[in-house]
Amino acid sequence: MTGQKTSAWSQRFEKALHPAIERFNASIGFDIELIEYDITGSVAHAKMLAKTGIISAEEGERLAAGLEQIRQEYREGNFTPGTDAEDVHFAVERRLTEIVGDAGKKLHTARSRNDQVGTDTRLYLRDQINQIREYLREFQQVLLNLAENHVETLIPGYTHLQRAQPVSLAHHLLAYFEMAQRDWERLGDVFKRVDISPLGCGALAGTTFPIDRHYTAELLGFAGVYANSLDGVSDRDFAIEFLGAASLIMAHLSRLSEEVILWASQEFGFVTLTDSCATGSSIMPQKKNPDVPELVRGKAGRVFGHLQALLVLVKGLPLAYNKDLQEDKEALFDTVKTVKACLEAMTILLREGIEFRTERLAEAVAEDFSNATDVADYLAAKGVPFREAYNLVGKVVKTCLAAGKLLKDLSLEEWKALHPAFEGDIYEAIAPVRVVAARNSYGGTGFERVKVAIESARSRISL
Ligand code: ARG
Repeated sequence: MTGQKTSAWSQRFEKALHPAIERFNASIGFDIELIEYDITGSVAHAKMLAKTGIISAEEGERLAAGLEQIRQEYREGNFTPGTDAEDVHFAVERRLTEIVGDAGKKLHTARSRNDQVGTDTRLYLRDQINQIREYLREFQQVLLNLAENHVETLIPGYTHLQRAQPVSLAHHLLAYFEMAQRDWERLGDVFKRVDISPLGCGALAGTTFPIDRHYTAELLGFAGVYANSLDGVSDRDFAIEFLGAASLIMAHLSRLSEEVILWASQEFGFVTLTDSCATGSSIMPQKKNPDVPELVRGKAGRVFGHLQALLVLVKGLPLAYNKDLQEDKEALFDTVKTVKACLEAMTILLREGIEFRTERLAEAVAEDFSNATDVADYLAAKGVPFREAYNLVGKVVKTCLAAGKLLKDLSLEEWKALHPAFEGDIYEAIAPVRVVAARNSYGGTGFERVKVAIESARSRISL
């Protein structure tokens, strides 16, 4: 029809897309994020086409040079394709043809957008995984520095959110170090499955051209190639695994956030928030709010949602590529941005946003019965069977509660009346510092143990 746009597709199409459908179909609005990876992937493909004689060496060079020019234009802010380009792959190819002429039309030989988008996404994710691992390392570094300053600071340890046994604050912080360490390792493991090239799988069945998939994989630094073309273009396991790893990072950050929020409350009063990381209220002038950890806690849900979305995305998909898969990108991009932002914010929060109120912590560990286990251990060490000792101490706690006393308030006569094995050293044995120091079992909170743990943690992250 005169005056009407024609299709971007083959001659099979006579009419252009309905404008609303064009917008609906387009991914350029978000997949522009992949542009540099798309260019890198295409340069490798062009080189391979030339090497295998599918195009001439001269054509290969022109394609590569044209692609690098587009990279430059993009970096300078001079390449901003609209929705009519549909996606980043078409946008680049179209611009390439403008730059190098008909040779540009040869770039897509022996390739489909299906293996192309899979390649781009993997290149992107490899980079992002490396970056997130760096963020994790910084977070671990800050945890370690903080731990180092608080080996002998005591904090109540909880089970069921009931005071259980006091611990070294460093020990508590090192628990988060260990979670981050697993996160770091897990991402390294996910990386192995991201690091496989689908390029050359074609639309789904491979290609009639004598391509060299190992060569493109090598140029792009992939550790291997997909063994099956149908799997290569339709696999999103690597993305789901990444979202799983990202979800665990967020779960860990969210747990720490929850603790900081509790600690900053008047009820706990274990930390104060410094001005650079806290916010006020628009109506209550006395308020100082822990917005940072609250946001991190909130954003965890959003990343879990992306994981769920991708699982649901693939569960009913027949082989091979289906357009549904275009929906993987926003989930991935948003997850990457969210995880980085949360790691950065929590790192800053730990570095300068919270101050532990050590006096308040010292009071807290001295005002409860969290040394009761140590009384039982005291007796057990003197040969009283532990269960018997445990029952006896339970009775003591009950008596103390009724009398409004703590264990340390009992006189030696009272102790001896309870069991003849008690002697004057019971007071030292139940002092919070002793209680913590004594737990020197491997992985425990004893100060000497914790110092060794800090050393070992330092050496693990400096590898
Ligand atoms: N924009 C598409 C995506 O993100 C690229 C692949 C399109 N392939 C196709 N057969 N329509 O998945």
